[in-house]
Amino acid sequence: MKKYLIHTYGCQMNVHESEKIAGILESKGYTETSDEKEADVIMFNTCCIRETAESKIMGHIGETKRLKARKPSLIVGVCGCMSQQKEVAEKLKKRYPFLDVIIGTSNLSELGEMIDRANVGKHCYEIGDRFCVDENVPVFRTSGTNAWVNIIYGCNNFCTYCIVPYVRGRERSRSKDVILSEVKQLVAEGYKEITLLGQNVDSYGKDLDKPCTFAELLYAIAEIDGKFRLRFVSSHPKDMSDECIAAIAASPKICNNIHLPVQAGSNSVLARMNRKYTREQYLDLVDRIRAKIPDVGITSDIMVGFAGETEEDFLQTLDLVEKARFSSLFSFVYSRRKGTVGYSMENQIDRATKRDRITRLIACQNKITKEISDTYTGKVMEILVEDTNPKYAGDVYCGRTDCGRLVNFKYTENVVGSFADVKIKEHRSATLWGDVVKLK
Ligand code: 5AD
Ligand code: SF4
Repeated sequence: MKKYLIHTYGCQMNVHESEKIAGILESKGYTETSDEKEADVIMFNTCCIRETAESKIMGHIGETKRLKARKPSLIVGVCGCMSQQKEVAEKLKKRYPFLDVIIGTSNLSELGEMIDRANVGKHCYEIGDRFCVDENVPVFRTSGTNAWVNIIYGCNNFCTYCIVPYVRGRERSRSKDVILSEVKQLVAEGYKEITLLGQNVDSYGKDLDKPCTFAELLYAIAEIDGKFRLRFVSSHPKDMSDECIAAIAASPKICNNIHLPVQAGSNSVLARMNRKYTREQYLDLVDRIRAKIPDVGITSDIMVGFAGETEEDFLQTLDLVEKARFSSLFSFVYSRRKGTVGYSMENQIDRATKRDRITRLIACQNKITKEISDTYTGKVMEILVEDTNPKYAGDVYCGRTDCGRLVNFKYTENVVGSFADVKIKEHRSATLWGDVVKLK
């Protein structure tokens, strides 16, 4: 039996795309292994959002040279966002001539044929330039209680720091009927959580022949029978509608958890980033969400050190973080990406200033996370048990609350996939700890 191993880097979109790579390989009779030495195919599903990701991946790909030397029949392939950039694909080809397959995000559906060709000794280097919606790729799901469902691919926004529109193409929505039948099927198979994926979910449906808003899609999915949770990532603050907020508020199945990347708190930085909203509009949106969904958990992404960011601008970001009170925050140091408008902007920020700002930003959010955690102590919250917590040996399970906070608890039986009411007793950093009061 031939075996495959997939290395996945980057966001949830890539995690789900690796399930498609697995689907293609499984349909060819391969089975999964976690042992590189045993693998007949090793695929790197790559990310290029920041330079650090790219250089780490480059190093990891290089390490497979010795595996290939030991086992010449091994097929090593690279796909995903990094190789979708034609000049990076060229670099990969030159630096690592032992690679058998190099494809991009646009021609993932051709992977099966490429593996066949590689198996008869042919190198397959091909980066497509037509992005479409392919409904014929099999999916081999690996994420336990949660099932990822793409609703829209690509992005039309061209934020000036971001490489995504260049490696994922323009927005393409899947049809509402296809999404609904996929979710129905997943719920029937027993998945307890459905997470809708898109670079910008609020743009859903605008490009369809039969237009449909994201809120309409949410309402339709929430009507599907069965107990399951519905989540989605990511929303764009300029596009999140009151209709969508109302849908979340009205439906118990839609989690009260919104990932709403703000990126910066200064209007001049936001304008240079081409985000198309101001800090005031963002904070007003947060207020409108909280007015309709009082227990909502809002999470966000922020970048420090974008071109031209002054100390004054950065203080505006800290001030926004204080006001918005995110339940958690993903903070990044800006990384210049070739091909984006931001790459050639003046006044790039030095590394030490970026480090200093990210440290202060993380400290600011940590204080807020702790204050929010304090308010949970003693409360009973429903969680979906997702897994054992790999950080602890044995009987520690973890799951998330409706609003997205991670909860650990001890239990003697395997309760993965169950809903449980847990009484929160303490918190350590961002993680809550509790005791099960009722298993559902
Ligand atoms: N440098 C650093 N962070 C970036 N992100 C996107 N592009 C860059 C970049 N060039 C961050 C944004 C985005 C998240 C997925 O990654 O915050 O929301
Ligand atoms: Fe990148 Fe902006 Fe599109 Fe998000 S909305 S993928 S940050 S260009």
